[in-house]
Amino acid sequence: MSKSATAIAHPNIALVKYWGKRDAALNLPAVGSISVTLRELITTTRVEFVADASVDTVTLNQRSDARTTARISKFLDLLRARAGVSTRAIVTSTNNFPTGAGVASSASGFAALALAGSRALGLNLSSTELSLFARQGSGSAARSIYGGFVEMLHGERSDGQDCVAVPLIDENSWPMHVVVGITSRAAKDIGSTDGMEATRQTSPYYDAWIKGAAADLAIARDAIRGRDFARLAQVSEHSCLKMHALMMSADPGLIYWNGATVAAFQTLRNLRKSGVAVFGTIDAGPQIKAICLPEASAIVSAALKQVSGVEEVLVSALGPGARLVD
Ligand code: PMV
Repeated sequence: MSKSATAIAHPNIALVKYWGKRDAALNLPAVGSISVTLRELITTTRVEFVADASVDTVTLNQRSDARTTARISKFLDLLRARAGVSTRAIVTSTNNFPTGAGVASSASGFAALALAGSRALGLNLSSTELSLFARQGSGSAARSIYGGFVEMLHGERSDGQDCVAVPLIDENSWPMHVVVGITSRAAKDIGSTDGMEATRQTSPYYDAWIKGAAADLAIARDAIRGRDFARLAQVSEHSCLKMHALMMSADPGLIYWNGATVAAFQTLRNLRKSGVAVFGTIDAGPQIKAICLPEASAIVSAALKQVSGVEEVLVSALGPGARLVD
């Protein structure tokens, strides 16, 4: 049995958003979602199981902290239970992009960890099983097992076994660029798990959000199959703005934007009005993400760089799913 393995995975950005859990303990989302996987942003994770180690050791970008170690250790317990072992591990992970800056590093992180960890334990899991495991680390991580356009199924079963991501079309079937504008590097006040629970408990709009999700997913799926950019732009912006309206309607309201986020979103809308194939999306943080056709990438990057408060711009094509490396 091989005791170590290294995997790489890419973050993904949701076009149709997930916000809210139907089961917090199993980390089951209350709604499905659709995302794109980003090629140029890379998490590389090595896991080595060490027979005589008494604790898990976790290094993320050359640093260790108790909170990250506890979260990863809990995740490794799931894999250990599956393999029927209790061996501790050394986990070394690096991101080639700003960690914790709202660029979905938990998605790529848990996808890479599920693959490297399971292989290092000698398990040969299917993509479906990897996606199920990754979901338990972070809801959006289930999607980073696959490349291109990916749908996360909300599932019906209470044990969550049908709550898994499925690939829609691969990264070469409809080339797209994602331009990320970083507007702040400050850690967010309220993470997604706490934010989702507060929203579920206090927002008067929560039921309407859940009810609207299936229609948004159907439109987006259709737009992707038909390569209809305008339709995808419309439903994605609608899903994003509905999610943020929902967050703001929690009590107390959650505001993840700053001034530059709003200015950048307006800039993208103005570009689209002028004929550029681009739309914006925003997650639980102040960064702006522009989705565009590759030929629009240069003009979109230049426009975002002009927005006051945008500190850095990253550009990525769509990429493949998680995979093992030597
Ligand atoms: O993966 P989580 O549990 O951190 O949730 C991610 C939620 C959003 O990024 C806001 C939306 C999404 O679908 O990715």
